Amino acid sequence: MTTIAPEETAREAVFDATVAADERIEPRDWMPDAYRSSLVRQIAQHAHSEIIGMQPEANWITRAPSLRRKAILMAKVQDEAGHGLYLYSAAETLGAGRDELLDKLHSGRQKYSSIFNYPTLTWADVGAIGWLVDGAAITNQVPLCRCSYGPYARAMIRVCKEESFHQRQGYELLLTLSRGTDAQHAMAQDAVNRWWWPSLMMFGPPDDESAHSAQSMAWKIKRHSNDELRQRFVDICVPQAEALGLTLPDPDLRWNEERGHWDFGPIDWAEFREVLKGNGPCNEERIGRRRRAHEEGAWVREAAAAHAARKARNAARTAGTGEATR
Ligand SMILES: [Fe+2]
Ligand SMILES: [Fe+2]
Repeated sequence: MTTIAPEETAREAVFDATVAADERIEPRDWMPDAYRSSLVRQIAQHAHSEIIGMQPEANWITRAPSLRRKAILMAKVQDEAGHGLYLYSAAETLGAGRDELLDKLHSGRQKYSSIFNYPTLTWADVGAIGWLVDGAAITNQVPLCRCSYGPYARAMIRVCKEESFHQRQGYELLLTLSRGTDAQHAMAQDAVNRWWWPSLMMFGPPDDESAHSAQSMAWKIKRHSNDELRQRFVDICVPQAEALGLTLPDPDLRWNEERGHWDFGPIDWAEFREVLKGNGPCNEERIGRRRRAHEEGAWVREAAAAHAARKARNAARTAGTGEATR
């Protein structure tokens, strides 16, 4: 029989009451080990998705059709790097070091969103990613602004503001193509055809197969189920597609008066599982490039560490002698 110390029970009661009152758990607070590890897993996967997600779009920076489009795309890709940084910092407040998390990403022990294993074949893909992939990300992340863990919730507020800019730039890009020449319109339609289903998969497996959902919702890390968010996203996209003059590649898409939602066709979960297993079109390329970038950046990390160590030594010496040193 295990005995639970009274102070343990008291700390757990404080944690439960904080979550129940919709207040935030902060890094200094006691939290159950499983809450901490669940958050680390989710935040790490989110951080990894932000930085791996830079690759498919960066592929088009040098081929953007105008200076305006190039400046917008560069800003967007840089934003994604920033999102990665906020999120790795949020994970650090839980005791998970950045080196450790990157190591898990590079060795395949932690995942990133499967959407980034699809290729960007044409310029229109930049628009489809902004509209659909960033759009799905917002749908997922807006409720995370109210997540029970303070640092994650606060990071999400800024991330969502930037994601909403990303979504609009994608929409505007697609609108321009859709109203352009026949070839441009066809390119926009083709991109939407390829990105629609993978973006629905971004919400994760159906609720009855989602391993972590119920506990995450009880802890108020997640506020809505995968299927609920997916439905919300479909309902938002249908009228937007119509305004774009583009169609969504689903013959079963139908307004359901009774439910007050759009019905949609079955998702190919076999494809999702294959991509997740590492067999998507670009898995190897994405992780290979990430590992290379990490190796090639080793000298920057070493130089930064040496600089920080020297500054600390100098500060200690100055404090000891009262003299300024350089
Ligand atoms: Fe992002
Ligand atoms: Fe984004």
